[in-house]
Amino acid sequence: MSQWQWSLPTRVIFGPGARACLPEFIAGKRAALVRSRSAGSVPGDYAGEFSGIRPNPTVENVRDCAAFLSAMGAEIVVAVGGGSVLDCAKAAAKALPLIALPTTAGTGSEVTNISVVSDDAVHTKTPQMSPDYFPAIAIVDPELTYTMPRRVAAESGVDALSHAIEALWSIHHNPASDALALRACRLIFDHLAPSCEGGLASRDAMSEGSLLAGLAFAQTRTAGVHASSFPLTARYGLSHGAACGFTLAAFARLNGIDSHARALGFADSAALADEIDRIKKALGLPVYLADAGIAEPDLPQLARDCLQPPNMRNNPVAMDEAGMLRLLLSLK
Ligand SMILES: [Fe+2]
Repeated sequence: MSQWQWSLPTRVIFGPGARACLPEFIAGKRAALVRSRSAGSVPGDYAGEFSGIRPNPTVENVRDCAAFLSAMGAEIVVAVGGGSVLDCAKAAAKALPLIALPTTAGTGSEVTNISVVSDDAVHTKTPQMSPDYFPAIAIVDPELTYTMPRRVAAESGVDALSHAIEALWSIHHNPASDALALRACRLIFDHLAPSCEGGLASRDAMSEGSLLAGLAFAQTRTAGVHASSFPLTARYGLSHGAACGFTLAAFARLNGIDSHARALGFADSAALADEIDRIKKALGLPVYLADAGIAEPDLPQLARDCLQPPNMRNNPVAMDEAGMLRLLLSLK
């Protein structure tokens, strides 16, 4: 039996309507609201508001947001949006207390110390980690996801599934992360498709699944799927969820998590991988290289790029260029 640790400085508040508690946390403070333009309204009095953060936020977005917070003298920051808004706010607010309210069910960013920022000049997308990035409070109110369009529900849901599965196979997994990730997987396999059709009970379940997956991978880190997702997004423009989903089944076949697959009711890892492919097809997400606009001559460079991000070191099967190339060729 090996030693393990658990550390989460973020206070987590979950449930439909939970955003109602927001005013009590910002009362008497100069509060800034950082939000996506499409996010619904949240209660509370704000001294200033920053929006216009693009999907896969850039270093310029972070710089502009930080300058805004400092110019308005913000004492506390409330971030309302998908992973892009939360990641940008985490990096921009750094030393300020941050309250994170996700409006998608996918990123888990509200409970992690990771911020993923893109640099368009060099076509990179890189995860940054800092203890300062943990939000002070995560308010996960499923009602904020009720207006999420079908495509966003599908893509962010597959991201959540990738977090749950990567938490199971990360070399840093432990009994507590396994318990959370298994429940997250169960919720997501059962509710992803119905949540995309707008079922509200399924949206609630996806919010819970995404949160639990976030709690798990905040401890274990992600692995090969996320490492590969960054060049797929930076080079081929796939959304984060589509990019994670793209290699998820292939890594499931390679990494082999038969005991977890059986705990989830599948015969083995291959059956779990088949179910992932079935879900991706049903949701209209890219399954094959051609669907993602990837030409075969690009593969050696793509394989090298997939090996660069630090997450790749958490993969249970060590990956080299030849192995990564084989995995990508299996998606022909
Ligand atoms: Fe992710």
